[in-house]
Amino acid sequence: MKPSTSQLDANGRLRHLLTLDGLPQATILALLDRAEALRAQSRGGTVPLNLLRGRTVMNLFFEPSTRTRTSFDLAAQRLGAQVINFDIAHSSTVKGESLLDTVHTLEAMHADAFVVRHKESGTPGFIAANLRSGAAVLNAGDGSHAHPTQGLLDALTLRQYRPDFSALRIAICGDIRHSRVARSDVHAFCALGVRELRLCAPPELAPDAAEFPQCRILNDFDQAIAGVDVAIMLRLQKERMQAAAIPSEAEYFHRYGLSTQRLARAAPECLVMHPGPINRGVEIASDVADGPQSLILEQVANGVNLRMAVLAELLAAKA
Ligand code: NCD
Repeated sequence: MKPSTSQLDANGRLRHLLTLDGLPQATILALLDRAEALRAQSRGGTVPLNLLRGRTVMNLFFEPSTRTRTSFDLAAQRLGAQVINFDIAHSSTVKGESLLDTVHTLEAMHADAFVVRHKESGTPGFIAANLRSGAAVLNAGDGSHAHPTQGLLDALTLRQYRPDFSALRIAICGDIRHSRVARSDVHAFCALGVRELRLCAPPELAPDAAEFPQCRILNDFDQAIAGVDVAIMLRLQKERMQAAAIPSEAEYFHRYGLSTQRLARAAPECLVMHPGPINRGVEIASDVADGPQSLILEQVANGVNLRMAVLAELLAAKA
């Protein structure tokens, strides 16, 4: 399934959010600014807003999720929308109902937005292209293709600490080949004019260099982390690997794990990020994940603000 619909309307306004690839810098900055404004307006989520009162948001998660689903749910609720968390395991999907029949059934009950996570790359775009109503589709992660709200929340978090992207050297390390987060991060950071972007993975998990002409691709983690201002660590996406592509977890940590000693090779006060879920002792040591340079829980908090901004942008405008 290939994304087959444009996410921008004829006036360049966001209709769906399917990918950050090709999204103009101005659109990205407007979403980040809106996230900051909504954070202030809702006093960090303690004051309910009613921007989306009367709207219905349906969460369709065909893959597991903790942070993304919960934060989309909270974001919609904090804006006053009604939220349906569609329960796939107990739905007619298990009786063989097709994806589109399921979506059209939910659409018939009226939905303003579908938030979709699926293991197949392109599913949110496929749904967007086949909707019968004016509902918006938000990609909450599709295969290894894109995770646009994660890319945006990572940019939002980073901007709070290091506003000048043109000064930043960033290394993204881990299972780049299978990572939708890496792809959306690259698109966001490049749109914001990052100084240098390094992608580091073992050879078997490295991406095709042609896909990332803007990045330096490295296999040696000590080289990749040397002097960087930000290190973004990624989980091994075992569910997307054909076979055991890496040796043992202990061996992986030895060569690619972020330990305190390795972090010392980066620039002083290098920021550490991870989209979660983290595997302690595999891609990151506990003392680094919980240490003073880690922004992992700030990323989680910003996930709600950023998703409020995207929902507001897509739905409030249609009021
Ligand atoms: C990521 C995902 O599902 O793509 N997690 C997330 O959304 N925060 C990364 C992962 O699963 O490793």
